[in-house]
Amino acid sequence: MEKQKVIISNQLEQILYKEVAACKADRTFILTDETTHRLCLPFVSSYACLKDAESIIIPAGDTHKDLNSISHVWSELQRLGATRHSLLINLGGGMVTDLGGFAASTFKRGIQFINIPTTLLSMVDASVGGKTGINFGGLKNEIGVFSNANCVILDTIFLKTLDLENILSGYAEMLKHGLISTEEHWAELMNFGIEKPDLKALGQLVVKSVQVKERIVTEDPTEKGLRKALNLGHTIGHAFESLALQRKPVLHGYAVAYGLVCELYLSVVKTGFPTDKMRQTVRFIFDHYGRMPITCDDYPALLELMTHDKKNVGNSINFTLLGGIGDIRINQTATKEEIEEALDFYREGC
Ligand SMILES: NC(=O)c1ccc[n+]([C@@H]2O[C@H](COP(=O)([O-])OP(=O)(O)OC[C@H]3O[C@@H](n4cnc5c(N)ncnc54)[C@H](O)[C@@H]3O)[C@@H](O)[C@H]2O)c1
Ligand SMILES: [Zn+2]
Repeated sequence: MEKQKVIISNQLEQILYKEVAACKADRTFILTDETTHRLCLPFVSSYACLKDAESIIIPAGDTHKDLNSISHVWSELQRLGATRHSLLINLGGGMVTDLGGFAASTFKRGIQFINIPTTLLSMVDASVGGKTGINFGGLKNEIGVFSNANCVILDTIFLKTLDLENILSGYAEMLKHGLISTEEHWAELMNFGIEKPDLKALGQLVVKSVQVKERIVTEDPTEKGLRKALNLGHTIGHAFESLALQRKPVLHGYAVAYGLVCELYLSVVKTGFPTDKMRQTVRFIFDHYGRMPITCDDYPALLELMTHDKKNVGNSINFTLLGGIGDIRINQTATKEEIEEALDFYREGC
């Protein structure tokens, strides 16, 4: 898979004009969810390059990243006369870029698409890297394809309307990118005022964050090895996320932040990650994300969820750990006792 074109924008109209023209499409369609239709489309709807674009809208929220919504997108493309030479612009968070990317990659065996992510999470994670898909049969991202957008255009202007919870959710993935890249980038993230973000300064951090993901994905697009670095915090994070679904759901990034706490603890114990940097990161996480309440009665359920993680091979639970910042150790395992110790640390540590 070729390297994806990611454009950092502060002149969205000119960039979009150029990119849309480069697609030489006969028709242009813009996919939004109901929220981004209301809050984000007005930024771009007056652009000359989009004046004839048709709008397609799906309901907002991950529960709608499903067969019904994609069927609606395919039906609308068909009804509105899209051809193999048409273009779909996905304007929204990860739900829209995942579903829209999959819809475009399958409609008439594949039409061109451009991603314009509007949440922090989709800017630094979901819209780059070529993974598209929908949830199916109760499982997340069960059906999908690897398919790169023609380009991804990042503009932090859209973050003006995004609530702090969703900003923090995306920031957890940025912390992860800091941890798997360099001490300098990690330190910048630790010191940034994310509670009241200056969007221009955040934009610069977004650029660095995307570069971390891009570098890894370019080396290993289909997750044979290095791409597993991006799973840091996710083995235990996904278990937290699934457990929360049965109680009070938490945003993905919050679960990843809690997963990072546990997996950094495991990194200290198993791969020699420095304790001071672990404590600093963990304090940052507890200060900003709080703690999802769990007790030791939840451990069996959490371990069970980790055992069923799709990243596992055989019976052992697969972790990505760190020997230091940027020192990535993929394909690590931990015993039940070690994982329980990490969960104890999450409940009581720091
Ligand atoms: N493809 C990948 O590699 C990858 C990686 C990470 C996550 N994902 C997927 O991304 C999705 C999560 O992404 P997300 O957090 O962006 O979720 P999302 O797209 O559901 O957006 C979260 C909420 O914010 C709203 N919203 C979007 N932009 C807004 C804005 N500018 N102002 C105000 N509200 C806005 C949305 O309507 C939605 O209600 C999940 O489906 C996940 O599976 C994919
Ligand atoms: Zn994630």
